[in-house]
Amino acid sequence: MTDTPNSEPGTPNIEHVPVLLSEAVDLLSPKPGGVYVDGTLGAGGHAAEILTRSAPDGVLIGLDQDAEAVERSRAVLAPFGARVVIRQANFRDLPTVLTELGCGPVNGVLLDLGVSWFHLRSPQRGFSFMLEGPLDMRMDRGRPRNAADLVNGLPREELARIIREYGEERKAGAIARAIEQARAREPITTTAQLARIVSSVFPPYSSRRIHPATLTFQALRIAVNDEMAALRDALVHTIPLLQPGGRMAIISFHSLEDRIVKQSFVAAARGCTCPPKLPVCGCGTKPVLNILTKRPITAGREELARNPASRSAKLRAAEKL
Ligand SMILES: C[S@@+](CC[C@H](N)C(=O)[O-])C[C@H]1O[C@@H](n2cnc3c(N)ncnc32)[C@H](O)[C@@H]1O
Repeated sequence: MTDTPNSEPGTPNIEHVPVLLSEAVDLLSPKPGGVYVDGTLGAGGHAAEILTRSAPDGVLIGLDQDAEAVERSRAVLAPFGARVVIRQANFRDLPTVLTELGCGPVNGVLLDLGVSWFHLRSPQRGFSFMLEGPLDMRMDRGRPRNAADLVNGLPREELARIIREYGEERKAGAIARAIEQARAREPITTTAQLARIVSSVFPPYSSRRIHPATLTFQALRIAVNDEMAALRDALVHTIPLLQPGGRMAIISFHSLEDRIVKQSFVAAARGCTCPPKLPVCGCGTKPVLNILTKRPITAGREELARNPASRSAKLRAAEKL
């Protein structure tokens, strides 16, 4: 889910609404007796649908790096009993999890990237610029560095790079300078403090559609959780773990993420890695995937109206040959 729908304080505490639910699960095509992986359990919405469609005996292995998500999805998925196995783990470690479970190649893998509503609605998790809390942003609270460590400790140039690259924020340089000046006075420890510093770089009555801190918070979250590297690792490790005919569906919310997914799928579908000038293939690398979505699937008008968080979602899927 996207990281931008920071809720206004006081809005009702609705649960996470799964994005592109039927589209993603249709592409995964769960069948009775199959073994499926949901690498991003969140609140368990997609997982429940996969289990329902693979009844009576399909199995779901569910992972989330966040302990709170694991707890929530355990409760949501309890009615499916022994058909669900849940582990707190990063999806980049899927091969280890499957080995520990004694599980061979699987029939499908779903990744629905980003954070959940409960992350954005919990002030103490530090993801939201709308709710005052410690500047944390770690999904896995075992990670060594949180957002405050990055904001207070990284050189200005590195902060600017993160904000530019992961936030696609045009004012990244000015924001990094403002952070550098502010932290020289006192450490930046709360979400509200950082939101004020970032906002000071923008004109007070800017016509921006989104809060001025949106992209900076997104960038820091991606850096804190090493999200791009985790996705790259997951793609490399997961394709070999699919059975022939097994499917992989990935929902991303950021152009960098979508590019990583698209390029990995294209490379695996092409196989040969020889330079295009070579008249015949010398590497012998065979294609391993068939791409099922020539273009990414996005939310339709009805879903966009119902769930604004779906606006930047892109779904791509592929099948193991
Ligand atoms: C958008 S939510 C998933 C929502 C879920 N599909 C649902 O229907 O409720 C993304 C979840 O993935 C988890 N997550 C993000 N990156 C992860 C990673 N590298 N490994 C494991 N879990 C991850 C987050 O903690 C969050 O709970």
